[in-house]
Amino acid sequence: MITYSDELKEEIRLANDIVDVISQYVTLKRSGRNFFGLCPFHKEKSPSFSVSPDRQYYHCFGCHKGGDVFNFVSEIEKISFKESLEFLAERARIPLPVDENPTFQKNQYLKDKMYKINAEATIFYHERLYKPLAKIAQNYIKQRKMDNHTLTSFKIGYSGEHHELYQHLKTQGFKDEEILATGLVHKNDRGEYIDRFRKRLMFPIMEVNGKVVAFGGRRLDDNEKTAKYINSNENLVYSKKKHLFGLNLAKQANEKKMILVEGYMDAVSLYQRGIHNVVASLGTALTEEQGRLLRKYCEQVILSYDSDGAGQEAILRGLSILENQGCDARVLQMEGAKDPDEYVLKYGSGRFQLLVDQAISLVEFKIKMLKNKYQLENAKDKIRFLKEITKILSDVENKIEREIYIDKIAKQYHISKEAIYAEVNKTSYHSASNKVLTKPIINHKVPKEEISEAVVKRENMVIYLLINHFKEAYEKIVTNITIEDLQVRENKVIFEKILESSAEESEKIIQCIANIEDAEIQSHISEILVTDYEINSVEKCIEDIIIIYNKDRLSRRKLEIIQELKNETLTPEEITKLEEELNRIIIELAKGK
Ligand code: GTP
Ligand code: MN
Repeated sequence: MITYSDELKEEIRLANDIVDVISQYVTLKRSGRNFFGLCPFHKEKSPSFSVSPDRQYYHCFGCHKGGDVFNFVSEIEKISFKESLEFLAERARIPLPVDENPTFQKNQYLKDKMYKINAEATIFYHERLYKPLAKIAQNYIKQRKMDNHTLTSFKIGYSGEHHELYQHLKTQGFKDEEILATGLVHKNDRGEYIDRFRKRLMFPIMEVNGKVVAFGGRRLDDNEKTAKYINSNENLVYSKKKHLFGLNLAKQANEKKMILVEGYMDAVSLYQRGIHNVVASLGTALTEEQGRLLRKYCEQVILSYDSDGAGQEAILRGLSILENQGCDARVLQMEGAKDPDEYVLKYGSGRFQLLVDQAISLVEFKIKMLKNKYQLENAKDKIRFLKEITKILSDVENKIEREIYIDKIAKQYHISKEAIYAEVNKTSYHSASNKVLTKPIINHKVPKEEISEAVVKRENMVIYLLINHFKEAYEKIVTNITIEDLQVRENKVIFEKILESSAEESEKIIQCIANIEDAEIQSHISEILVTDYEINSVEKCIEDIIIIYNKDRLSRRKLEIIQELKNETLTPEEITKLEEELNRIIIELAKGK
């Protein structure tokens, strides 16, 4: 396995400004020296995620995640540290040394060929669509009212009856193993090469950059014996949980909102009717990876899935995935059509747009689902319904938001507001006290909590000064403060690292501590780096801190001496010596006041 040099690592770090990188995932607003936003790693309503452009660090004061740009990328993309390096190198177009490892090279080569084959197949299928042989596809297109602009935008195509693709790819010089790797062609028991897609309308699935990675093919007849859609199998370049159909086009709409549908035809049909911010998750429930991908390009997602029972579970899952990623997720409510394609054909895009604007939140959706379980004319059911909705409402942390819901529910289901309030208060009181009692201690290091806040803050400041004001601070601090003076584990480790590194400037110090492979320590460092200590005079600040540490040390020694003096086996000389020291300390301490 290849390892990259520290110099290269630094080059990549410098080329990827942390604010730029994080802005692709999180909406950041400047406030003072730092930027703030909603943490992408835990669910929150008010921003506690902070990014420091000066120090190139991020830190969340809510979930305590933090680190540098590499940590961020590996955390959010769920990739290794090394992969984050490669990711950011590519982002900054910095060439990486080629891996000598033969399998790695072979894979790179094969992937490259697969992209080329997919691109070739896309053109091949698309051009076929316009040929006389494709009558059946042309009729189907008419029947589904797709116009030519749509066909070219999505590069929709037609796969022929025989094995034309295989033959075509061979004439282009591709090798059998390369063609087989894409899954576009199979080899049967008799050793013959057969096209996977035959007599189907072809939808290329693309990456965000427009590179084709797979295809979906729809059958053109009503023969129920064959699958309505078949897709490429997963391969080196395609993973169905990571791709979204239509994203390359939807991204260009540059909207804060994205509409998420289930099917190819839903996306295509909306797009044709002027709704360009639409992507399809292709029949399955939204995955975490797809959610994150989507989140890069928008702030709000409107789920517009088919409204059958199986769909509801998928909607709930999709909503909670998106909400956990800090996305405003809503559900579109549709009546009179089974899917968005049918709806726009029947009622037009204007009415669909209205539905988009009226889409409801997760809370409202849950309540609506609940309502279907109960007969509200029945008094007992109504009470049960009330109890259930208050459970949902007590999870809403924001008071104003909760009031809006209560208002809506009262009106919609004819329940008095007072009754809802009474129940909600009961429930949230209980859950609040439960939370206090049972709250698990995650992320909080117990020892750190036992140390007084003032001490933690002072120690953190020492580290902060060492990192940010190295020239002024280093000598004074290391001659006056020792590792034993520090109490917080993280600070001890960092302090030791700094001493060991014998670094001569701030940048070097950051590099050396950035290499400490301990998540808790990285979190601690990032917290220090993004905190604004409001230091007016660095010199005065260092002086004050040193005085405090000296005083602390003297006080500790004073107590020690008093303890020692109680020892009855001491010789008179020893006693005199201790008493003299004690006197000196008392005078020292008095001077300091
Ligand atoms: P049309 O019938 O062409 O309008 O398709 P649709 O997009 O409305 O399809 P539907 O709602 O039935 O299914 C939604 C999505 O699920 C499709 O776009 C496909 O991605 C997927 N899907 C549907 N049927 C099949 C199938 O038989 N096999 C596979 N692999 N996927 C399917
Ligand atoms: Mn449909």
